[in-house]
Amino acid sequence: MMLLVFLIALAAAAAQNDTQTARTSSTSAVRREQFRVIYEWTYIDYEWESQEQQKAFLNTSRYIPQNVLISGINFYGESLFLTMPRMLDGVPATLATIPVLQTNTAPKLKPFPSWSDNTIGNCNALQFVQNVEIDRNGIMWILDNGRVGTLTPTPDPKCPPSIVLIDMKSGKNEMERIPFPPEIVNPNTTYLNDLVVDNRGDGDYAYITDNSAVDPGIIIFRRSDKKSWKLRDSQSMMSVPEATFFRINGTNVNLPVNIDGIALGPQFKRNDDKVDRTVYYSPLSSFNLYAINASVLRNESLAQNNKNDLRPYVVDLGTKASQTDGMKMDSTGVLFFGLIGNSTIAEWNSTTDFRTGQRTIARDPTYIQWVDRFTFDDRGNTYVVVNRLFNFVKQQVSLNEINYRILKSFTGSKSYVFGDDLTSESQYSAASIPMVGASLLMVAFSFLLA
Ligand SMILES: *[C@@H]1O[C@H](CO)[C@@H](O)[C@H](O)[C@H]1NC(C)=O
Ligand SMILES: *[C@@H]1O[C@H](CO)[C@@H](O)[C@H](O)[C@H]1NC(C)=O
Ligand SMILES: *[C@@H]1O[C@H](CO)[C@@H](O)[C@H](O)[C@H]1NC(C)=O
Ligand SMILES: *[C@@H]1O[C@H](CO)[C@@H](O)[C@H](O)[C@H]1NC(C)=O
Ligand SMILES: *[C@@H]1O[C@H](CO)[C@@H](O)[C@H](O)[C@H]1NC(C)=O
Ligand SMILES: *[C@@H]1O[C@H](CO)[C@@H](O)[C@H](O)[C@H]1NC(C)=O
Ligand SMILES: *[C@@H]1O[C@H](CO)[C@@H](O)[C@H](O)[C@H]1NC(C)=O
Ligand SMILES: *[C@@H]1O[C@H](CO)[C@@H](O)[C@H](O)[C@H]1NC(C)=O
Repeated sequence: MMLLVFLIALAAAAAQNDTQTARTSSTSAVRREQFRVIYEWTYIDYEWESQEQQKAFLNTSRYIPQNVLISGINFYGESLFLTMPRMLDGVPATLATIPVLQTNTAPKLKPFPSWSDNTIGNCNALQFVQNVEIDRNGIMWILDNGRVGTLTPTPDPKCPPSIVLIDMKSGKNEMERIPFPPEIVNPNTTYLNDLVVDNRGDGDYAYITDNSAVDPGIIIFRRSDKKSWKLRDSQSMMSVPEATFFRINGTNVNLPVNIDGIALGPQFKRNDDKVDRTVYYSPLSSFNLYAINASVLRNESLAQNNKNDLRPYVVDLGTKASQTDGMKMDSTGVLFFGLIGNSTIAEWNSTTDFRTGQRTIARDPTYIQWVDRFTFDDRGNTYVVVNRLFNFVKQQVSLNEINYRILKSFTGSKSYVFGDDLTSESQYSAASIPMVGASLLMVAFSFLLA
């Protein structure tokens, strides 16, 4: 507990320094919470079933502590769900959970749904999970890439790339696995990276980024009939040479990574009175943010010619100061994203012009080293995974340093999945408490990124 308090003070002081230098005048009376460190780990350990199990995993290199990296994060009930993609060998479980609140600052991870549901090579179990989403109906959508060891010389497509669904409300944690057809999603080359879920009256859809090195694109999956298709646009979905270089914490990495982060905007009514939403995305190795209407992605007929089907529909919203890994939108259309080379967490109100509307909400070279994913809880808090990925990909993770952190801040936000439903009667219910927090935020943190 002492440790926790100490860290919070430090992080807040650091952020305050940043605030003072970055802003010339401000109203300190209305200040939103600073991002604080709530959890931090030198390496990731698990809640083992027994000491024998742990010993056996260690002894057979099924657990190699420096190879376990936290990447994705999500929230349900009283728990945070964390993903540990099996990029290297020695990752005992690829999906796990920790409590939202607890006094231990380095909690052990409890494999989810269970140890056996994380067994490598069992195709009823999870193989390689980079991200999950939990929709407004309490369904967890898990992206299982099927292929493990993506950073090793011999990546192994153990199982078909799949969507795995769990109804969290039932408490039974039963997994429904839906493999993608190999002609749509190639098990040898796909890299299912991140997803947003669009709960619609006519069925639920997932829009999934495939940052495959050879065939990047967006995969659309419709839950009602389990059908999927893939759309491509090389111009907006591929890394660009001028953005493959990252310099962070004295380390240089060259990473040409394709389409990666994705976000979903609030519903809006088109001129023809149909409901639509904007999908935002960016390659990791790019400075641009792109947008496309979800109605275009749902148009299967665009997937027929297979090449650059989307070009006429993609809008380039403009550039960011640095590259972005994960991004997440709240229910009012405010986008949270990282700026990796700037040790920065930023936001953008999507009703404003992207080129002038980006704001820094936290900057710290020590605590913010590679922002990966974001999530919101049901009390207005935003959580961020910071994971020093640059060390991991260079395989120079040191077990003597803090490598993984979860930061938290009250922002008054809730997830885009709980945005107003323009097609339902109850569209103005349960909506607006967060607005107060969100507008304070604009006052307190209004300065432009250079
Ligand atoms: C804040 O700035 C002061 C002076 O510029 C410096 O001495 C101090 O170490 C900084 N604190 C943090 C936490 O960065
Ligand atoms: C660990 O491996 C060694 C040999 O490499 C063996 O002697 C020992 O019994 C093993 N321990 C366990 C717990 O499997
Ligand atoms: C994946 O690779 C295996 C082994 O090289 C090959 O047999 C299979 O046809 C490939 N699958 C696709 C969809 O290309
Ligand atoms: C890298 O970050 C660590 C803290 O995580 C800090 O102690 C160290 O000085 C940093 N190194 C450089 C070169 O910035
Ligand atoms: C989405 O559709 C609306 C209505 O047709 C249009 O005004 C808007 O420009 C489109 N957005 C994008 C990103 O193409
Ligand atoms: C889907 O795209 C095709 C072009 O490939 C277009 O002709 C058709 O009108 C679109 N359908 C809808 C519902 O927008
Ligand atoms: C942000 O980082 C980029 C490198 O990714 C650098 O070129 C730029 O000057 C930085 N901008 C700010 C405002 O720090
Ligand atoms: C976003 O901008 C719009 C238009 O300026 C404003 O009405 C809304 O309150 C802003 N949202 C937040 C969360 O500040």
